[in-house]
Amino acid sequence: MDRIRITGGNELHGIIPISGAKNAALPLMIASLLTDDTLTLENVPHLADVEQLIRILGNHGADISVNGRRERQGESYARTIHFTCRNIVDTTAPYELVSKMRASFWVIGPLLAREGKARVSLPGGCAIGTRPVDLFIEGLAALGANIEIDSGYINATAPTGGLIGARYVFPKVSVGATHVMMMAATLANGTTTIGNAAREPEVVDLANCLNAMGAKITGAGTSTITIEGVTSLSGARHRVLPDRIETGTYAMAVAMTGGDVILEGTDASLLDTALEAIRRAGAEITPTETGIRVYRNGGGIKPVDVVTDPFPGFPTDLQAQFMGLMTRSSGVSHITETIFENRFMHVQELARLGARITLSGQTAKIEGVPRLKGAPVMATDLRASVSLVIAGLVAEGDTMVSRVYHLDRGFERLEEKLTRCGAIVERVTD
Ligand code: UD1
Repeated sequence: MDRIRITGGNELHGIIPISGAKNAALPLMIASLLTDDTLTLENVPHLADVEQLIRILGNHGADISVNGRRERQGESYARTIHFTCRNIVDTTAPYELVSKMRASFWVIGPLLAREGKARVSLPGGCAIGTRPVDLFIEGLAALGANIEIDSGYINATAPTGGLIGARYVFPKVSVGATHVMMMAATLANGTTTIGNAAREPEVVDLANCLNAMGAKITGAGTSTITIEGVTSLSGARHRVLPDRIETGTYAMAVAMTGGDVILEGTDASLLDTALEAIRRAGAEITPTETGIRVYRNGGGIKPVDVVTDPFPGFPTDLQAQFMGLMTRSSGVSHITETIFENRFMHVQELARLGARITLSGQTAKIEGVPRLKGAPVMATDLRASVSLVIAGLVAEGDTMVSRVYHLDRGFERLEEKLTRCGAIVERVTD
């Protein structure tokens, strides 16, 4: 199994191309099940989760072709992928596939809307909390679906004549449930209003793509989304928006090591709250024509408190990385996680590098230390694993991160992007 060895101590200088957003690419790919026409997605990142979803969509009948010619984007390679699902050949998403990636559960929305039925495995437990599916069930039931749970599967059927537009207010903000309800409602009879909808940029990206396919969606990006049902959707061509989590991760890496880096092909407005926290920690951040410049010269890292929240709040997907940064601050900081319980598994791994962190409920208290020391550490989930990389970049000596398949799920060419900016990061294949 691959591991990543980081030899700490180098500043980062150069250009890091930012990939298309994994969390936008996945729902956009799933939206291809809503039409028998071709959906072409540009700027799709090359990640394990994308490959897994390609297999899942193929299982439902999608014909998928990846552009032979890769689109060169700085030093990164974005891909253009065509999805054509003339017929849905299978409305079942089996446990073996859904259990590997929670987002694949989202196929329930398009399958139900287009075929009137779906049998989708419950995603099962997850390393970062229980992550139930009650909101999906309630949302789809509001559209008239009949939903039964049987042997670990959700059997959903639409009324004869299809789903029916309705008004539904989510009791809690959920990105996935908003994606699914929005997709399902595009083909419902009548108008649907989703209240307390997720406002994440990826929801807006999905709505834009669905509208390009002929849907009638307004309000995406606000907490009330209105969808006027249409009888069918067509194909479209859509470019996946830049990955704000990858952007924030590299911005924090530069804040950690010091140096001067241009994050290319991204957009500061996707992550204002996180960039503000990084600024307060001592880095300078300025938008450029093609992205963002991040630099920290001389000054140390200041302690900053953050609380995770749904967009536009501080993203939970950047919490672990920010904790990595705070381990080297000049004082005491507090990080409170409000989205997922049990999303602190990186704490004990960071402690192995010499970090001083104490947990009390959903809040971590981080006492900055003057130095970290390299050690073998284990990646526990996608975002936790990259916080270990950030810490490893300044730790004395070697940090060996095992279980890097977590990283490969969400970070495209991580070691290449960091190495080109002067870091010593190497993949070791046993
Ligand atoms: C998405 C992101 C993930 C990010 C998360 C929160 C993708 C592929 N994943 O995950 O990276 O960390 O948003 O920004 O886009 N919940 C329920 N019942 C439900 C559904 C969710 O209680 O039916 C809870 C979850 O347990 C969690 C909270 O709602 O506590 C938010 O989860 P949600 O926004 O649904 O996360 P995902 O869409 O799975």
